[in-house]
Amino acid sequence: MKHKNSLSQLLQFTAIYLILTTTSPAQDFSGMRAEEIYQNLCATCHGAEFEGGLAGSLADGEWIHGNSDEQIQHSITDGIPDKGMEAFGDVLTVSQVRGLVVLIREREQEEHYRTATYPVPDPENVTRTRYHAYRVEILTEGLHTPWAVAFLPDGRKLVTERSGPLRIIDADNRLDPEPVEGIPQAVFNGPEGGMMDVALHPDFEKNGWIYLALVDGLRDENGDSITETAVVRGRIDGHRWVDQEWIYKADPKSYTRSGAHYGTRIAFDNGYIYFAIGQRGDRDDPQDLSSPNGKIFRLYDDGRIPEDNPFVDDPNALAGIWSYGHRNPQGLTIDEETHDLYETEHGARGGDEFNLILKGRNYGWPVITHGMNYNGTPITPYTEMEGMEQPLVHWTPSIAPCGLDQYRGTAFPQWDGDILAGSLRAQELHRLRVRDGTVVEEEVILKGIGRVRDVRIGPEGYIYLLTNTDPDRLVRLLPADVYKHQLEDISKEPANKM
Ligand code: HEC
Repeated sequence: MKHKNSLSQLLQFTAIYLILTTTSPAQDFSGMRAEEIYQNLCATCHGAEFEGGLAGSLADGEWIHGNSDEQIQHSITDGIPDKGMEAFGDVLTVSQVRGLVVLIREREQEEHYRTATYPVPDPENVTRTRYHAYRVEILTEGLHTPWAVAFLPDGRKLVTERSGPLRIIDADNRLDPEPVEGIPQAVFNGPEGGMMDVALHPDFEKNGWIYLALVDGLRDENGDSITETAVVRGRIDGHRWVDQEWIYKADPKSYTRSGAHYGTRIAFDNGYIYFAIGQRGDRDDPQDLSSPNGKIFRLYDDGRIPEDNPFVDDPNALAGIWSYGHRNPQGLTIDEETHDLYETEHGARGGDEFNLILKGRNYGWPVITHGMNYNGTPITPYTEMEGMEQPLVHWTPSIAPCGLDQYRGTAFPQWDGDILAGSLRAQELHRLRVRDGTVVEEEVILKGIGRVRDVRIGPEGYIYLLTNTDPDRLVRLLPADVYKHQLEDISKEPANKM
């Protein structure tokens, strides 16, 4: 065999190299994560860390060509030809572009958190917000992943802990070492499920009913544990749970081995109970009306199905369903005046939602979402669709909303009627002002005292929070004018803007 000389070899290599680099077919980005697409197509100009270089930073919060998600999407899809940015609409699918928007938003938020000055509440100090100043008071420590709190008329509180117990906190905020005996066993099987919501019937003083939402467990034919969200009520006699009645238990065929997305929250209105069940790890369920998963239910407070529920006449639907297309709702509250039902739910990576829940409506998951998969690949090309509801707010990047209540009371009069939403991941409390079905104002009024698991307005109008980690505790926000001596310079300027 003849050997080629080294010059011809070099020429050949060079030719192949030239052909490969100049005529290689368009790169295929399908299945690629948003991070990889960014590094392949964008980093040369915008910087590997989004910090800018040949073109501007995409993380500094400054937008020349518009700062809405839609405008950023437009910049990427159609390019900015006169400035030297090509259009990527032919190379990338709509959902890949959406993924880049989510990624850019995440980096922008990280950068924002590094530099922003949110009021970080300090129990010793007053925190100023746009309309009110408050002080954080630590009430009870020694709790273990507290999930929900309810106020008994005698000043005591009931608190659920996710691992199972229902605890009593006395009127002086001391944790009773003896949990309530005889409550149903909740399956505590991972980071999501266990004993969850607790809520008193609106007529509690007359009827004594206490409702719990929890993870109920069964065994399948192989003896494996299968679970589903369930709702039960009972009364408390001393330290004993008595008069127990199940309000909702799903058909055993809906119980699954998944330990994810149980929801849930309970809300009452006019003799009805509303509660939510998450998708339980199955993305097909929320659009399937024969499955309880990814739904909000409405029942009479004793568990019967109201005859005017939206799907009572549909033989393929569960008659208790009120709305569908939800991923993992963990906030639910009803406006006392308008009776509007509000919900917050966890999206995947981005696309957390604040929704106004209307009878029989489809909230879209997973056909539409503003988020993407955790690994950076797309879920769907669509953020909106005919016949599906848009959230009033979507949080992209995710804040992991949990706990929701409407502020009613005189302690913080400027907040009367506003909705307060807690967040686990971002460790925030958001104040949302809704007028005529739109959010006209959103403010982060608290940040950085732990994951906010529950938000409830106490009988005196103070705002109670359960925080998880840093450490687990019950705290409340008191209006700072209770501490007038500390109120020297409540500035007229908002302390933080969104
Ligand atoms: C060849 C260089 C180049 C590449 C590659 C590039 N861009 Fe750009 N990009 C630019 C320039 C130049 C601008 C316009 C900046 C200006 O108006 O000052 C721009 C603007 C933008 C804007 C609007 C910024 C604003 O302030 O409103 C976005 C969003 C954007 N690019 C995203 C991307 C993404 C995502 C990719 C990868 C898919 C990408 N770019 C790839 C050069 C580039």
